[in-house]
Amino acid sequence: MMRVEASALAVLLGQWHPESGPAHRALSEALQRLIVDGRLALGVKLPSERTLAETLRVSRTTTATAYRNLVASGFLQTNSRTRAVVTLPATALDTLRPHCVADVIDFSSASPAAPGELIHAAFRAALDYMPRHFAGNGYERAGVGELRRAIADRYRQRGLPTGPDQIMVTHGAQHALALVTHELLPRNGRVVIEHPTYPNAIRVFLDRSARIIPISVAEGWDAERFSAANRSADLTYLIPEFQNPTGLTMGEDVRRSMRLSSPTIVDETLLDVEAGLHPFSPVTPLAAYHRQVVTIGSLSKSVWGGLRVGWVRAGTELIDRLVRSRNLFDLGNPVLEQLAAVELIAGGRTRDEGPRLARHCALNALGTALSTQLPDATYSIPAGGVGLWVRLAEPVSTRLANTAPDHGLLLAAGPRYGVGGAFERHLRLPFTLPENELRDGVDRLAGLYSEVLAGRTGHHPPSSIA
Ligand SMILES: Cc1ncc(COP(=O)(O)O)c(C=O)c1O
Repeated sequence: MMRVEASALAVLLGQWHPESGPAHRALSEALQRLIVDGRLALGVKLPSERTLAETLRVSRTTTATAYRNLVASGFLQTNSRTRAVVTLPATALDTLRPHCVADVIDFSSASPAAPGELIHAAFRAALDYMPRHFAGNGYERAGVGELRRAIADRYRQRGLPTGPDQIMVTHGAQHALALVTHELLPRNGRVVIEHPTYPNAIRVFLDRSARIIPISVAEGWDAERFSAANRSADLTYLIPEFQNPTGLTMGEDVRRSMRLSSPTIVDETLLDVEAGLHPFSPVTPLAAYHRQVVTIGSLSKSVWGGLRVGWVRAGTELIDRLVRSRNLFDLGNPVLEQLAAVELIAGGRTRDEGPRLARHCALNALGTALSTQLPDATYSIPAGGVGLWVRLAEPVSTRLANTAPDHGLLLAAGPRYGVGGAFERHLRLPFTLPENELRDGVDRLAGLYSEVLAGRTGHHPPSSIA
């Protein structure tokens, strides 16, 4: 069972101290907010009352009473011998149930529907090709040669010489991120992240009890600050193309002037997910400038999340280590899926014009709906990615996410994209849904926003983000 260490919990809690009223109440409310909006996942074990009290520099009575409050309201379970475990009150689950069947618009996830014909064609070709693999035993721990070559060729075309032995195929970028992190990040190590960043990456780092060093990218990447932080970090995590959630892309000058002397994971999951009227000018992969960079990629956003095909590009020695450590969890990807991925990657289908223009139109539809329904919200229009990082006039993001299911809407609160309770004024809204759903969703959001400003709150389990 996953546990969160006291130091990591202190980072998540941020500024929780009360301006007035008892500290135990402020602490239990702050913990409840973390549970309700998903930053503390269900089933996670909390630190002992004593350790948390020492870390937060409060009395043991404060943490014990805060935990007791949460047990009483159904947000924690305890027994005398084990640590407190995060749970949800039965009433919260009951209120969610009707929404599972009603027409719910999911703004918490930003993942495109499948391009059906393209995927069918890729799997048909893969099935015809597959008998060439039947003489082997099918365990391709690093990935089938054809796919490793196709991925390496793509890096070469982007100006980054790469051999197939520098590639390991994974079950998507999340799998790649978890494997590389477990290999490179010591327990309690220091991790530099862009702030905001992809929430499931934060979870991977917290699972290693990492000390997180957030660096703002509100104005883009400050090469000096990232370079200085990287020098004393064990790991740095960057999303240089269409950054999730801001949509920003790191310019060529910043890529060149960054100094990355310690291990850095560059997540290129969104690389091909352009949303402009015209193709984006290619930018040099960060790994072409910096030897320390380990790159991860995926077909989830450029084609479809259901393919579950991703990869790691690294030096051959690290790839060998990753292949060995992967054995603990699984013994490779299915051959058929990998051969279908070859069709898509070698055929250049991850950068088709049709989906790019569809994203462009959806982005415009979302922007138009926002300017009419939520005119106080502000955002920059990205050249690609899957969502808009919207700044609200009021800091009510968590309350919106908690109440949204009552309006047939799922939202991921802004603070899930950061640490220390930041981004209460932000929401990431996806433009991966059909235009009519985007308009309906913004309608519901506007109604919800007025209700929340009028004082309503709700209790719903957090939705998972992708
Ligand atoms: C930046 C980033 N990295 C990784 C992932 C996970 O990708 P996959 O579905 O390939 O595991 C996502 C999904 O949203 C993402 O946005």
